[in-house]
Amino acid sequence: MRRLLHIDSSARPGRAGEHPHGSHSRRLSHAFVTRWLQAHPGDAVVYRDLGITPPTPVQHEWIPAAFTPAAQRSPAQHATLKESDTLARELQDADLVVIGMPMYNFGMPSTLKAWVDGIVRIALTFDVDPARPDPYIGLLADRPRRAVILTARGAHGFDAGGAQAAMNHADTALRDVLGFIGITDVHLVAIEHEEEGGEALAQSTARALRRIDALVAQWADAACETA
Ligand SMILES: Cc1cc2nc3c(=O)[nH]c(=O)nc-3n(C[C@H](O)[C@H](O)[C@H](O)COP(=O)(O)O)c2cc1C
Repeated sequence: MRRLLHIDSSARPGRAGEHPHGSHSRRLSHAFVTRWLQAHPGDAVVYRDLGITPPTPVQHEWIPAAFTPAAQRSPAQHATLKESDTLARELQDADLVVIGMPMYNFGMPSTLKAWVDGIVRIALTFDVDPARPDPYIGLLADRPRRAVILTARGAHGFDAGGAQAAMNHADTALRDVLGFIGITDVHLVAIEHEEEGGEALAQSTARALRRIDALVAQWADAACETA
């Protein structure tokens, strides 16, 4: 049995294709998890909706609490880190992380950034060894983990090689931060043209859904090979 962590971060609660003005990233993340569970009915899913219930942003007391070794923290510091502990544990427990991410102003939504700030924690998800050429150690490289980012953009051309690729600070930031903590097997599926709509959006959506089917099939084969 694998454990999935399914995250959504769109501010729009409904799913495109089912609800008026619904979210395209929610549509994709839901499609991925649904297809995955069809292929692997025994797998378990933890769901976290950052768009509806955003994590607390980093605040003043959080910083010394996070940098104090766990054994030396006061009860108040443990309480300050409780939410961050929960978010980090959900990620540590996951084998496959499925993240729905809209592009907001060329980056990720602030709700997802608050999650990132909660899960990147010294001595918990990364460590530092100044003696090494690269001093940072991603602690989530302790066993295989995979992530898939399901993203939606209003405009187009943000994929690698596209006319707007240099303005894409969403995929790159999330991919880099996952790599920093040790999750380097990261895949991306995007819908573009949300603002234009019509045929361009329909084709982009159909391509994204086909890509999801292909990833689930590919990973099912890989799972069989190692079983
Ligand atoms: C606050 C905000 C900022 C946005 N910024 C961008 C942007 O920088 N580039 C872009 O292509 N689309 C932008 N969009 C459009 C969204 O990326 C698009 O609506 C996408 O479908 C949102 O994902 P969702 O459908 O999952 O909610 C923005 C939308 C909002 C609400």
